[in-house]
Amino acid sequence: MSHAEDTQGTRRDFLYYATAGAGAVTAGAAVWPLVNQMNPSADVQAASTLRVDVSAVERGTQLTVLFLGKPVFIRRRTDDEIAAGRAVELSELIDTSARNANLEGADATDQNRTMDEAGEWLLMSGVCTHLGCVPLGDGAGDFGGWFCPCHGSHYDTAGRIRKGPAPENLHIPTAEFVDETTILLG
Ligand code: FES
Repeated sequence: MSHAEDTQGTRRDFLYYATAGAGAVTAGAAVWPLVNQMNPSADVQAASTLRVDVSAVERGTQLTVLFLGKPVFIRRRTDDEIAAGRAVELSELIDTSARNANLEGADATDQNRTMDEAGEWLLMSGVCTHLGCVPLGDGAGDFGGWFCPCHGSHYDTAGRIRKGPAPENLHIPTAEFVDETTILLG
């Protein structure tokens, strides 16, 4: 059983990890201000960067972290999700920009959206590019990726907008692996 199932039943999208300090694992957005209060020095550091331990993230699952007050999705994709993302032609996309801060100017191929060559790790902002709701994940929507129920925007397995009013792919913030299981955001 994963940490997520352990702590929050089926709502594993909303597991929040605070990895500063002793690797506290907390559930629910309401806990976040409390963590910050208990860690004033970490709070200062967290203003610009966040280290995330992804060692517990299994394939086919994702976790959500809060970074600069906004959710960031980190998904470890299955082979099917990777294949589905890579099978899409640029001409099929509404937004052909990768929207990837780590690859300025790149087009929105699946490869340009993921962190690793194999395409397992997809990290992106959890903010719908329409009006800012937090889309639902775990294969939601018509394209097997994310679905924003606010006004019906469907994102594919690479977080690219495929249907609905959102104009842009989910944005990818500056992030990198600093070792095999740690992602540095910011
Ligand atoms: S905010 Fe997501 S569809 Fe409108």
